[in-house]
Amino acid sequence: MGLLEIRGGRKLSGSIKIQSAKNAVLPMMAGAILTKEQVVIKNCPKISDVFSMIDILHTLGVKTVFQGEDLIIDPSVVNSNLITASLSKKLRSSVFILGALLSRTGSAQMSYPGGCAIGERPIDIHIAALKSLGVEIDDDKTFLSCRATRLKPSTIRLKYPSVGATENVILASVFIKGKTVIYNPAKEPEIVDFINFLNAMGANISGAGKSVLVVEGVKKLHGIEYTPIEDRIETGTFLIAAAVTGGEIQLFNCKTENFLFIINKICNNTCKFTQKNDIIYYKSGGVINPVKITTGPHPEFPTDLQAQMTVFASVAKGRSVIKETVFEDRFHHLTELRKMGADVTLKGNTAFINGVETLYGAFVKANDLRGGAALVIAGLVAKGLTVVDGMSHVERGYQDFEYKLSALSADVKNKKD
Ligand code: UD1
Repeated sequence: MGLLEIRGGRKLSGSIKIQSAKNAVLPMMAGAILTKEQVVIKNCPKISDVFSMIDILHTLGVKTVFQGEDLIIDPSVVNSNLITASLSKKLRSSVFILGALLSRTGSAQMSYPGGCAIGERPIDIHIAALKSLGVEIDDDKTFLSCRATRLKPSTIRLKYPSVGATENVILASVFIKGKTVIYNPAKEPEIVDFINFLNAMGANISGAGKSVLVVEGVKKLHGIEYTPIEDRIETGTFLIAAAVTGGEIQLFNCKTENFLFIINKICNNTCKFTQKNDIIYYKSGGVINPVKITTGPHPEFPTDLQAQMTVFASVAKGRSVIKETVFEDRFHHLTELRKMGADVTLKGNTAFINGVETLYGAFVKANDLRGGAALVIAGLVAKGLTVVDGMSHVERGYQDFEYKLSALSADVKNKKD
């Protein structure tokens, strides 16, 4: 596992380009197998979650190659329907591949993804929804064997707007003759983009971003070249880093309509913020006001920025309250932040954080993707040297993280260099 050394205290300044959204790209890679024609995902981030998904596609017989920034997928052959335990555990959210495989081959077998550092990863919502489409499922709680011999359109009400389950139902129902109606689907911008991608391939899905989705079965999808939306979590991560270091940055390839709410929380009335075309300009106002945040499904505050906001709160002038409602165990980074001097009390799923004058460098360990990014941000604002262990977690979601930070004048060094 890589280590990142950070000498804190520098204000971030400069410009970087934001990557395409990880959470849009991953389901699109699964969706690519719904056609036999070539699919090109433009500006595809070279992050380890994408490489794990590529490994999954390769085991199915699909060919892929990166040409510059673009991922070229050749799904003309799919000759396996099996996702082994080692692959499903590598990328726990990849369960949506089930829906795609069922549509393409009529069957799918997969090891349970199992729990991870941010909590259990149950798939009951996926299973219930697939069953109501007529999928027959043998489920021994470690392995799933699914057959789609008599699929039928259905009206499905998700008990929670799960991102992955919404994707799974869409992928499984694209070719089912008739109308499949999904109540309470996920509404994240990445889901909307994923639906736009499938519709551009010839699918007929309406209601993206709304409370009811309707999938009208079509006979066939065709190949496509598609540029996914920007990664709002990467954007938020850099804005938070700029805020806590008192910085001034420009982010290219960003449109704000997908996350104005997040930006307002990060700005918190103190910063200067403008957007022109797809360029965001951010200048810290110097003061960090405390925040009150509750994470939740879109349009609520994204759980994927919760950890980074705990660093923001740690250096705010006053007491912040951050409540996590999406994942049950997503506060491991707080133990590490305390080593750096943060004043945090955790009660149940709520963190009470009293802002401190300064954080101090320490040796800390990332346990998960976003928690790791948060520790790096803490290192940027801390006095002295911080070493973040477990950077491979961060590489799951951020392409060239340390290079981008260096480009923004941070003093960071990969210990492997
Ligand atoms: C996706 C995102 C992840 C983000 C999360 C919530 C991708 C690749 N990943 O993950 O970055 O943090 O959405 O916005 O897009 N749940 C159940 N049963 C199920 C399915 C989910 O109880 O069958 C629970 C989960 O345990 C979790 C919550 O629902 O507590 C949200 O999960 P879900 O929306 O499914 O997240 P993912 O699709 O895994």
